Amino acid sequence: MTMNAFASSNSPLTREAMEPFWLPMTPNRQFKSKPRIFVGAEGMHYVTDDNRRILDGMAGLWCVNAGHAQRRIVEAIQAQAAKLDFVSSFQMSHPAAFELARRITEIAPAGLDHVFFTNSGSEAVDTALKIARGYHRAHGDASRIRFISRAKAYHGMGWGGLSVSGIVRHRRDFGPLLPEVDHLPHTHNPEHAAFSRGQPQWGAHLADELSKLLQVHDPSTIAAVIVEPVTGSGGVLPPPVGYLERLRKICDQHGILLIFDEVITGFGRLGAAFGANAFGVTPDIITCAKGMTNAAVPMGGVIASGKVYDALMQGPDNAIELFHGYTYSAHPLACAAGLAALDVYQDLGLFERARRLAPVWENHAHGLRDLPHVIDIRNIGLLAAIDLKPREGAPGARGSECANRCYEDGILIRGSGDTLLISPPLIITEEQIADIFAAIRRALTGIS
Ligand SMILES: Cc1ncc(COP(=O)(O)O)c(C=O)c1O
Repeated sequence: MTMNAFASSNSPLTREAMEPFWLPMTPNRQFKSKPRIFVGAEGMHYVTDDNRRILDGMAGLWCVNAGHAQRRIVEAIQAQAAKLDFVSSFQMSHPAAFELARRITEIAPAGLDHVFFTNSGSEAVDTALKIARGYHRAHGDASRIRFISRAKAYHGMGWGGLSVSGIVRHRRDFGPLLPEVDHLPHTHNPEHAAFSRGQPQWGAHLADELSKLLQVHDPSTIAAVIVEPVTGSGGVLPPPVGYLERLRKICDQHGILLIFDEVITGFGRLGAAFGANAFGVTPDIITCAKGMTNAAVPMGGVIASGKVYDALMQGPDNAIELFHGYTYSAHPLACAAGLAALDVYQDLGLFERARRLAPVWENHAHGLRDLPHVIDIRNIGLLAAIDLKPREGAPGARGSECANRCYEDGILIRGSGDTLLISPPLIITEEQIADIFAAIRRALTGIS
């Protein structure tokens, strides 16, 4: 078996045919010498261009929560395209935009009752950061410009999101970024909380690092704290018990807005509509995307509290309150997909399903604990991460070899350095959960 990062069977695409496409977040030259091409998808499976069925253990990229090609979503997009293909949301709109905003506020925690539409998670984060600064300025508090985020955080690829990113490799080549940013430590500490199931018992005190940062930066300079309720791409780090509550309390004490970036945790992955619902902690702003349309049409959003929205609704009625927006904000096709996705989530009871399957998922994940190379396993909802001990002199090799072996075995998971990430559609069956972890077991026992 070939063990490069993109080992796959034979694609009919030639190297020349692939050359013009500059793939994102991909080693392009390696990929084009051994591509991985999908030509179809349905339910839990992808179909490759050499006709293999691959079980999707990543829900695409943490986003296809209801599984692929959901008929109702497909038909809603088709009907909308035929009826109203596009209308701008700059001083005009269409019914589905209002309906989708209403439906989202219905499932969001109480008090989060306004939705600003974007086209991606990155745009949602940049929008939220701008709204946070705008909110304070509207209060006459223009000195509140600083953002506090967290090590290992992923907040997308816009300049704002990159500035609050906690992943050094993402930031390194692009500086200078926004200077008014500081970071909390992440919450992963295998010494105290290795192999924890769900929320670790250890680590709530790490929220107090925020108080320490406030001794360096006067609280009156801080606009917002932004965190993923569960760090996702940075390695699936569930919040320690009590941690988010403490962050909320400190923010409240100092007039700081709390933003939850729920691009991954939104729309059911934790067994509730949002992580905020699952953890019982309500931020001032939620950013979301991915599962919002079941990934069938790109869309993101910022869900803001009445407090934030009302503060910005100032000045004469004919004045634009927020000089911000995108050509495709509330795109009709995305709104149609979003409404259909919410119907599917509801009709199939997928958030409850994720909650019900979570213990099964957890047991399978932790069943790999004694395998070679495994140094930590974490899970929450239908998310899991497995840390492998890096091979001496070749960090990341074990992770990519293992993910590759799974792929050859018909299972798509994500290798990120030496961490394996798994995040399936919420329609997954118990049998398919067993299949995913059995493939990882085979892969782990096969690598050196
Ligand atoms: C927490 C979080 N925020 C933001 C983003 C960026 O979203 P997008 O890739 O849609 O721009 C992601 C993407 O994975 C994410 O996980």
